Amino acid sequence: MKKLHIETYGCQMNIADSEVVASILADLYEITDQQKEADLILINTCSVRDNAEQRIRKRLRELGSLKKKNNKLLIGLLGCMAERIKEQLLTEEKALDFIAGPDAYRTLPKLIEEASRGELSFNVILSEEETYDNIAPIRYDGNGISAYIPIMRGCNNFCTYCIVPYTRGRERSRDPKTILEEATHLFENGYREVTLLGQNVNSYLWKEESEPLDFAGLMEQVALISPLLRVRFATSHPKDISDKLIQTIAKYPNICKYIHLPVQSGSSAVLKKMNRVYNREYYLERISTIKKWIPEIALSTDILSGFCGETNQDHQDTLSIMKEVEYASAFMFRYSVRNGTKAAENLIDDVPDDVKAKRLEEIIALQQHLSLENNQKDIGKVFEVLVEGVSKRSDKKMFGRTSQNKVCVFPRQEAKVGDYVHVKVVSCTAGTLITELVDPC
Ligand code: SAH
Ligand code: SF4
Ligand code: F3S
Repeated sequence: MKKLHIETYGCQMNIADSEVVASILADLYEITDQQKEADLILINTCSVRDNAEQRIRKRLRELGSLKKKNNKLLIGLLGCMAERIKEQLLTEEKALDFIAGPDAYRTLPKLIEEASRGELSFNVILSEEETYDNIAPIRYDGNGISAYIPIMRGCNNFCTYCIVPYTRGRERSRDPKTILEEATHLFENGYREVTLLGQNVNSYLWKEESEPLDFAGLMEQVALISPLLRVRFATSHPKDISDKLIQTIAKYPNICKYIHLPVQSGSSAVLKKMNRVYNREYYLERISTIKKWIPEIALSTDILSGFCGETNQDHQDTLSIMKEVEYASAFMFRYSVRNGTKAAENLIDDVPDDVKAKRLEEIIALQQHLSLENNQKDIGKVFEVLVEGVSKRSDKKMFGRTSQNKVCVFPRQEAKVGDYVHVKVVSCTAGTLITELVDPC
């Protein structure tokens, strides 16, 4: 059988999509992690920031030289960059034989067949219905205990800086029956953690039954599969983090006590320009409700620094909201203009690069401090941890994560991957809890 190598860039949705692609092509190709032995290399790409695209351009140049050595090798580009740049990519990047946008993966066998006859082929049509719901993903790169389950695709929010609504198309929810079947099947096959995925999972809505099902309802049904199955989700928009959802997270011990709630900025003026449809006060109110109902919650966020018109005061407001929320962790970015977005069309990218860089540095330094402080508060506490594997740094240690999504290391003993163990935190860094095994209390 021919061999397929897939490289995945970008977000968790892309990781999940690559698993769907592996399944669509399973009759034609088996997966290899060795690019050298591949007959087909697929690059699943991200367009969210310019540097993400530059990295992929560089990779395509490297693959061009690989192709010179093996003229049978086919190279296809998938994902958001295919959608953003479309056919133009095929003329710009000589290494490419075909491209397929995020909703076109069912047509891959045809695209590959055309490409192998020497035709440059592409399909970047976005769909309003495609959710790949009847395709069982092949978890070719997983740990056998944690899996992603896409529950929706696309995004309707049109934050002014963001390319995703253009590359992924309109929001659509996946049939809950297929989600529950997939989660149950995973559990029966030894999986112990599922992450329900979408660009904005908390606007999930399935209307095709007499009773509409929202995200809180869906998550509850997944949680009821087994108390031994952990449920996570990513990512959520602050506008949709309802009381009902917070109460559902609080109610089920196996729904993880971790919420990724991207704030982007602490300044209401900047949030308005970003079209985030909430302000600082609303966001902080949601955070205090979350903390009231789920005191053990860990919060993480995305921060976008140096957006159009951001003043020093706006930047100070971002630093102060970070302190107020006490995020356990954060993904922090400097604003990068994306052609085609509302910000590129209507706003001026007026924060100089050096100022963007300095602000981002301050944000990262503050988060490092907050993460350390947050972890220090866990010293002496006992947590249940799902064992994920042997530590990369030492084969005498294992690692796993708490419900709060914090990585713990502990001495290697009887525990097996997929077991739940109890650990007590003895010390920490900003990124890891150093723990010892204890008996459950
Ligand atoms: N749907 C997710 C975000 C997906 S993109 C959500 O709304 O939570 C992940 C993050 O990339 C965003 O939260 C934002 O912080 C960042 N991002 C998006 N567009 C960007 C841009 N043009 N420049 C820099 N960072 C950007
Ligand atoms: Fe982009 Fe906003 Fe949609 Fe997230 S919610 S994918 S940031 S448009
Ligand atoms: Fe990137 Fe597309 Fe995800 S732009 S962040 S791969 S949705």
